[in-house]
Amino acid sequence: PSSDMSKFRSVFKNSKKIVVLTGAGVSAESGVPTFRGSGGLWRTFKSQDLATPEAFYRDPSLVWEFYHYRREVMATKKPNAAHVAIAGAQDFLRSKGFELNVITQNIDELHHAAGTKDVIELHGSLFKTSCLKCHKIKQNRQSPICEALRGRGAPDPNVRSANIPVESLPRCQDCGGLLRPSVVWFGESLDEDILLRANELINECDLCLVVGTSSVVYPAAMFAPSVAARGVPVAEFNMEVTPTTERFGFHFDGPCGESLPIALAPY
Ligand code: NAD
Ligand code: APR
Repeated sequence: PSSDMSKFRSVFKNSKKIVVLTGAGVSAESGVPTFRGSGGLWRTFKSQDLATPEAFYRDPSLVWEFYHYRREVMATKKPNAAHVAIAGAQDFLRSKGFELNVITQNIDELHHAAGTKDVIELHGSLFKTSCLKCHKIKQNRQSPICEALRGRGAPDPNVRSANIPVESLPRCQDCGGLLRPSVVWFGESLDEDILLRANELINECDLCLVVGTSSVVYPAAMFAPSVAARGVPVAEFNMEVTPTTERFGFHFDGPCGESLPIALAPY
């Protein structure tokens, strides 16, 4: 792949329907831990213990402790230069009658916080809950979300349970059912409408940026390769090469908080 920024800029200036796919790396410079890199969450914790439906049915208190900890971490985090550059580019392109849409694997809402509109959240949100009984999905920013989870910090990776009685875990205000984080766990399928919308954007775009994702979790991992297979330019912004790098026309190495403000500057 090419790392010629001026070549990328001329492609960008000729594009009318841009899709930006993001992963944990776009939030790394905000101080939010990624999953697989050094300091990554899945280096300390076993995803099978914390991010599967089986884990939640086995021990909802441990899973809640983990997601509540991640909500608390977010309280001090702000969008970084990469989120801001993406939001600014969307604004700029829309003012010209063009499109830029964001499809993210992140659940941290930092794209919203930066002002990006119509963000497609493939894996849900840390700040939404869904009720196991009445299935309502609600925005929920309350902190702490319940008294039992106040200030507990991260789960201890060596302790297999948080030992909070299930009655004390977050409860639905409408029906009293147990709430769960409204996120997509391993082994679960993505929301059908969200996936349809994402596929539509992927099939129609004339430029795709893939930012800060290790490109190993499906179906997100196949989006950018399928754009490249149509002969449409794809640019990857990452600090490492990924299993999909070779299929793309551009690869920009280094922190995306530095490269994206240049790549996506208004012209
Ligand atoms: P998968 O990992 O491909 O996920 C299946 C579906 O769940 C996909 O649609 C995926 O997008 C979605 N998904 C669910 N929870 C997710 C989450 N938290 N983040 C991102 N995407 C999520 O398939 P699978 O059947 O669950 O696992 C396939 C393989 O991946 C297995 O071999 C398993 O051992 C391995 N695995 C790896 C990790 C990890 O690297 N952290 C975690 C679980 C499973
Ligand atoms: N700029 C650009 N890229 C970066 C930066 C940075 N400042 N910092 C890290 N990266 C890159 C890493 O090189 C890595 O390729 O971001 C990527 C982060 O990859 P992962 O931690 O695997 O995150 P992601 O791809 O979003 O994970 C996918 O897995 O467990 C699930 O739900 C989780 O949605 C997530 C999914």
